[in-house]
Amino acid sequence: MALQSDVDDAEPLDGDFARAVLTGLGEDAKNIPCQFLYDARGSELFEEITRLEEYYPTRTEIALLEACGSEIAALAGPGRAVVEFGSGSSRKTHILLDCLDDPAAYIPIDISHDALGEAAARLKQSYPGLAVHPLHADFNQGLELPARYGACPKLGFFPGSTIGNFTLDAAAEFLADAGDVLGANSDFLVGADLRKDLDILLPAYDDRQGVTSAFILNLIHRINRELGGDLDIGGFKHQAVYNDRLGRIEIYIISLVDQVVEIMGRRFALAGGERIHIENSHKYTVAQFQAMARDAGWASEHVWTDRRDYFSLHYLRRNGG
Ligand code: TRP
Repeated sequence: MALQSDVDDAEPLDGDFARAVLTGLGEDAKNIPCQFLYDARGSELFEEITRLEEYYPTRTEIALLEACGSEIAALAGPGRAVVEFGSGSSRKTHILLDCLDDPAAYIPIDISHDALGEAAARLKQSYPGLAVHPLHADFNQGLELPARYGACPKLGFFPGSTIGNFTLDAAAEFLADAGDVLGANSDFLVGADLRKDLDILLPAYDDRQGVTSAFILNLIHRINRELGGDLDIGGFKHQAVYNDRLGRIEIYIISLVDQVVEIMGRRFALAGGERIHIENSHKYTVAQFQAMARDAGWASEHVWTDRRDYFSLHYLRRNGG
């Protein structure tokens, strides 16, 4: 039995998957937005990705958090309400909450109702005295924090280089919007993956065991399951390529053959070799990330990187707050 806890619905999200798939497959450059990767099965597979030998970001970021916990606590000071954008990372949340001095509350925000309820329930068990207030919302759209925490200074937390999944413009906009959501006197701890050799980068998105492939192709199963699609899983393959000009990994589903698929009574033709774009994962330089944060209203208080410069953890402070 999965643990569940009360979850605040900031907005209805049902039906978004159908709309996104029908719209995205109707476009010239076919696409399905990456947030739909994370249904229950997708979240499980992603959890498995984070434990893969080839997937360096999770373990590198966790080691960084553990190593710099007391510095984070000193920068944050006591009594912060921690606002996590996404709730899929409870290992990291535990490390952060453990190092902080007397956190006032934990407010995870996630698009997945189930993941949110489970994460919140687990957190409540580990920290019985802590106020936990999950928010079911899409943080790409406007949202407001519960008024009762209005007076606490906030510490935003956005680990996992999830910011890298936004385009550069959207990432800058997200940082500015997060500043408005978090409010005056807020700080923001953000994990950002760094540029590196392709022989390290590519296997992280195309592992030997095929877990990443199963994670991406779960979208095909999800379309069949939830939207009554008739897609043949054997007709598709996952692909990860590095776009050097844009400094990002791009993830696609490729149609292996000419085919016509039917979803909710609509038919879509796919040519053999045609790609459906699923995800980008931008890789930053430290200076590039700091400049972007600065333009979005955040001063860089500190940045930690690992010995090999694989990953960076940025402690940002809101300007003028
Ligand atoms: N934030 C993660 C990243 O960009 C998400 C991710 C990891 C991912 N592996 C993936 C997304 C494979 C799509 C496919 O690293």
